[in-house]
Amino acid sequence: MEIVCYPHPALLTPTREVTPEDAVTLGARIRELFRIMYEGKGIGLAAPQVAWNVRLFVMNSTGEAADERVLINPRILRHEGSETGEEGCLSFPGIFAKISRAAAVTVAFLNERGEASKLDLEGLEARIVQHELDHLENILLIHRMSPAEKIKHRRQLKELRAQFSP
Ligand code: CO
Repeated sequence: MEIVCYPHPALLTPTREVTPEDAVTLGARIRELFRIMYEGKGIGLAAPQVAWNVRLFVMNSTGEAADERVLINPRILRHEGSETGEEGCLSFPGIFAKISRAAAVTVAFLNERGEASKLDLEGLEARIVQHELDHLENILLIHRMSPAEKIKHRRQLKELRAQFSP
């Protein structure tokens, strides 16, 4: 598995749910996601970013092993407030854009043991969950950018499109 960058079509391929029975069999691939995320110095990585079209992502907002999270079939149950912050994406190398997100979310998901779980998150973790969940819906950083942000990053976006070879 390796990271695919915008405008690779895998980022726009619909994703499928994981059954609890399948969730427990994915340990090795999930470790691989963490490895690739750390290698890219990212704090979140969604399966579609390695051309794997399932509804799961991994995240770690601090770099501490204890803060590793695996969210399978995530669903946001509650959004609260709004906050604009700088966001990057391993599929848009070198691009950082100001994006508005809910300040806090409650998210339901299956964990890596296939168990139903729920988390209340705020700040950076809430932002990561919203960004990675967007990937599962095929919504990318470029779709969330304001017109001003798109203009600001126009040249870099053009370079990414030029580098892409199908
Ligand atoms: Co991303």
